[in-house]
Amino acid sequence: MQNSQLSLDAVPKHIAIIMDGNGRWAKAQGKPRVFGHKNGVASVRETISTAAKLGVQAITLFAFSSENWRRPEEEVGMLMELFVTALSTEVTKLHKNNLKLQVIGDTSRFSNRLQKKIAKAEQTTSTNTGMVVNIAANYGGKWDIAQAAQQVAKKVEQGELCSSDITENILAEHMMMSDLPDVDLLIRTSGECRISNFLLWQIAYAEIYFTPVYWPDFKEESLIEAVTWFINRERRFGCTGEQIKALIEN
Ligand code: IPE
Ligand code: IPE
Ligand code: MG
Repeated sequence: MQNSQLSLDAVPKHIAIIMDGNGRWAKAQGKPRVFGHKNGVASVRETISTAAKLGVQAITLFAFSSENWRRPEEEVGMLMELFVTALSTEVTKLHKNNLKLQVIGDTSRFSNRLQKKIAKAEQTTSTNTGMVVNIAANYGGKWDIAQAAQQVAKKVEQGELCSSDITENILAEHMMMSDLPDVDLLIRTSGECRISNFLLWQIAYAEIYFTPVYWPDFKEESLIEAVTWFINRERRFGCTGEQIKALIEN
């Protein structure tokens, strides 16, 4: 590898992001929370396209947690509407760019209309071979472990497995995103330093990056900064933001 060139091996294969701070971003401008959520969609778009250009294999974005149902009904309703709208407007672009969209989480609690949109978006992009974009919706890390345990228990009931066969690998095979590498880099925006029941199993060895930037302000430069930090954490190449940028431009 030449000094000026960054190897693609150094880039995290799987990035997960807790997209936080929409409400505070809006409030700081005297606007309603929903204004922040709407502006957050632009950051989602830019982050996906930057990650794809960097050669990331998968990106997982926390859009709605299993605890977010506790928010005021009006805000939950707005978020659901935004989800439907974003699916309609963004899927064509994702498909054109050969990206594969998957929704992880318990989607059974969503309206039929939203469930149909999700199924259609997943189906449209299912054979795409580029970066995988996972949207975590009504997702909880504890739920994920519980649903994996249920699937394994069923196999034991049916005599396909013995309880002594249950290893870490068997559980891992039943977790969401079992076909993807574990998360290398977890990012949380807005200055909060907690996991909020996002991925638990899959972040066992992730580097965790907290930034004070509110999600609607998280742009290409912000992702490059996080990836640069990750690469330096790894102490693989001691490279700079400019080198990562060069990766995108070349
Ligand atoms: C993240 O921003 C978006 C969702 C959780 C859906 P928030 O809405 O949590 O924004 P803050 O944390 O209140 O600023
Ligand atoms: C986590 O953010 C969920 C998403 C980003 C979708 P929250 O804003 O809901 O987390 P807490 O409640 O502050 O921990
Ligand atoms: Mg928040």
